[in-house]
Amino acid sequence: MKNYLFLEKQVLLPLYPQRGLVLVRGQGVHLYDINNKEYLDMMSNYGVNIFGHTNQFILNAISYQLKKITNLHGSFTSSMRVEAADRLIKMCKLPEYQIYFSNSGTEAMEAALKFAVLTTGKKKFIVMKNNYHGKTLGALSTMVGSKYQKPFLPLLWDMVETEFGDIKDLTKKISSEFAAVVLEPIQGEGGIHVPSGDYLRDVQRLCQSCNVLMIVDEIQTGAGRTGEFLCSSYSRIEPDIIALGKGIGGGLPVGVTLVSRQVSQKIIRGIHSSTFGGNPLTCAGICASLEYMIENDIFSHVKKIGDYFINQLMSIKSPHIKQVRGKGLMIGVELDQPVTPVLKFMQDNGILVIPGGDMVVRFLPPYIIEKKHVDKTINVFNKALKSLIVTSNIKSA
Ligand SMILES: Cc1ncc(COP(=O)(O)O)c(C=O)c1O
Repeated sequence: MKNYLFLEKQVLLPLYPQRGLVLVRGQGVHLYDINNKEYLDMMSNYGVNIFGHTNQFILNAISYQLKKITNLHGSFTSSMRVEAADRLIKMCKLPEYQIYFSNSGTEAMEAALKFAVLTTGKKKFIVMKNNYHGKTLGALSTMVGSKYQKPFLPLLWDMVETEFGDIKDLTKKISSEFAAVVLEPIQGEGGIHVPSGDYLRDVQRLCQSCNVLMIVDEIQTGAGRTGEFLCSSYSRIEPDIIALGKGIGGGLPVGVTLVSRQVSQKIIRGIHSSTFGGNPLTCAGICASLEYMIENDIFSHVKKIGDYFINQLMSIKSPHIKQVRGKGLMIGVELDQPVTPVLKFMQDNGILVIPGGDMVVRFLPPYIIEKKHVDKTINVFNKALKSLIVTSNIKSA
């Protein structure tokens, strides 16, 4: 058998932390390695495989489209692209909005920023501390002070930081000089931070009063992750620009930028485009995903199982847990130390989870998980935390 871990080091740039695992197939909530060892997938490929792996309904829709037409440039009309956009707009309940399709989250954000500049003629943005919007230059520019920025400074435009969740700080900083305020409804990569109360509503109110656009990055929170199609609809807001990505394409690469009429009126033909954006194959994945969500009442399941999961996590008694945070199936547990040993213990014991920053264990399971999967995860997580206690006892002895 080829040693792929070894070969990988020679042929792929070392840009990612290495989990030391060669995964070759998935089925439902499980992934299998090259030796056919089974893993419970509690991270859904960083939030992408929302219906688990090889979901038959999604597979059928994509396979059908694969045999018809896979790519079609935006200058030709694709019935599948129009269907996908129409259904997305209906799902978001934003009938006046229009869509630009791309191929990844960061591209959806690039478009969002460019569209905000086109609409307002301004190049100044208010961004949140601890945010994550992607690593292409525009998106990266919004991540002020992040370690990902440092080698590339100076970056684009004028970015002013505010504390996420702090409406007073935003009130002090916002003015009509800005094109937009950019934020995630819940910060994901930054460690699952849920703003309290009416924060998002207050941000929208401030933006409107200063004639500043509101760009909401729902790439991680969207597509049902928190129990509503858009997390921002919990706050009953209608942002001017919304970015989606991750699981919305049924596992195929996708970025979506939704814009209000105020923005769409300012878009100039040819000013932005993508050869692959909105390709019929991905759009078939979008249509199937939306249909699957509705047919299977996915949102109420996400709410119910998410509440159960969070409650079970909260009932764990461990001196290493500082806080449990989250909504729906976007959950983080902040520890008093870096999470790598916990992730490793869980992986060795057949459960895959990811970090959210250095100190947060992040759970982004597929929406189809059941109580028994949560219970198994809680059991192994508990053991992982106990193994930390043993380790620290040994160290201090
Ligand atoms: C909130 C948010 N925005 C943007 C991105 C970037 O998406 P992508 O990696 O698909 O470019 C991510 C990815 O994790 C994200 O969580």
